[in-house]
Amino acid sequence: MKNEIGLYGLGVMGQSLVLNIANHGHSIAVFNRSSGKTETFMQEKVTGQPITATYSLEEFVDALELPRRILLMVTAGSVTDATIENLLPLLSKGDIIVDCGNSFYKDTVRREAYLKEKGINFFGTGVSGGEMGALLGPSMMPGGDREAYRYLEPVFMDIAAKTPSGDACCGYIGPDGAGHYVKMVHNGIEYADIQIICEAYHMMKAVAGMTNAQIQQVFETWNKGRLRSYLIEITAEILKRKDEETGNDLIDMILDRAGQKGTGKWTSMEGLDIGCVIPTVAESVFARNMSAIKDERVRVSKLFDSRPFYPLADTFLEDLEKAVYAAKVCCYAQGFRLLKEASEANSWGLKFGEIALLWRAGCIIRADFLEDIKRAFDIDPDCPNLIATEKFSAELKTAETAWRQIVLCGIGNGCYLPALTSTLNYFDGYRSARLPANLLQAQRDYFGAHTYQRVDKDPSQAFHTVWETL
Ligand code: 6PG
Repeated sequence: MKNEIGLYGLGVMGQSLVLNIANHGHSIAVFNRSSGKTETFMQEKVTGQPITATYSLEEFVDALELPRRILLMVTAGSVTDATIENLLPLLSKGDIIVDCGNSFYKDTVRREAYLKEKGINFFGTGVSGGEMGALLGPSMMPGGDREAYRYLEPVFMDIAAKTPSGDACCGYIGPDGAGHYVKMVHNGIEYADIQIICEAYHMMKAVAGMTNAQIQQVFETWNKGRLRSYLIEITAEILKRKDEETGNDLIDMILDRAGQKGTGKWTSMEGLDIGCVIPTVAESVFARNMSAIKDERVRVSKLFDSRPFYPLADTFLEDLEKAVYAAKVCCYAQGFRLLKEASEANSWGLKFGEIALLWRAGCIIRADFLEDIKRAFDIDPDCPNLIATEKFSAELKTAETAWRQIVLCGIGNGCYLPALTSTLNYFDGYRSARLPANLLQAQRDYFGAHTYQRVDKDPSQAFHTVWETL
């Protein structure tokens, strides 16, 4: 009996995905480059599920039904290319390779075109939710050939996370790199959302002088309201945890130096490439870079006093909740705007409401709030920016003053708040009918004869002024 599907790469995520697939009754063949890992996996994790271990590529490929469906769970980059090359001679026309790693979407576009020429279907599939998500139900973002998707859909719909109303957090995203693009933007939003939460923690700790237990309570309370989300939930959990070694709060024992694997940077670079304004994502990447230069920061901190000189409002905690919510709305607005521009540029036909629903459960940015985003897109599928929708514009109006108050207080006390401040700037820019770019254009025309448009003339006309005589 051949297996319905195969998975190559038994790392932590690969193993979890295999168990998820097999637990849903789908037979699966597995292969890993080092056979020891396969043996340990079979001995320690497999308890009667329809999982077949294979120990050579030939055996692996031969264990699969036609058209073969092969999931790759390998390190993104050159390993993905090498794995594809090794598999290629063993495959038949119509077989499907699914890259489930965090691959850069342009690599996915390239691989899809390359494999299409050889008669192989290639799917770049974003998989979010970490180890637990992969095991219990990830959010899945598959991109590739529409027709070939029917071979993947039944398995993917079974294993994906389900929303509270039972919808699967998986849906065909679009052709070639669309799935990995959407996953990349998911991660960009993830960076921004995380940074906003960290800044709220920073304000409570460094400016308001609250204890970890008090801050923990705040996050727990927020998780019962409109901010309810996985990231707020785990933040409340993290703040409760004691360090086994010292008995201190574990959070105080963790070095403030952030790591990153690059997906936030890709998202930021994409914003720059296509000219889409996504400062919260970019600032969140820079915030990680700033955190990484710990030794320098420690040295320079001794050069400057950090005296508090802006009073804390009585409404500080209420204001902070509003600031976090407003910043969150504006950062998701940036992410969806990027998706819109990319969709138009690549003719992907992305469906934004459905993407919001895919992120509703299973993934790292899962939140009740995505239901509101879905509804906003249901009302206006082509809305240029969530900020302009009826619901979110009304909420931003209510939160705006508190948000400014928090930013004033943070800046007034020398607190580093790149996400909260840059997102407020984004909001202020986007809601401004007039910006000082008229002066900018005049300067460009002055020193470089770059020309400008006039407020009283057709925008297709270019004007130049002779600003100085030689
Ligand atoms: C997910 C996560 C996952 C991973 C990030 C972490 O959706 O499951 O986004 O893909 O945790 O890549 O990225 P950094 O290491 O860059 O923070």
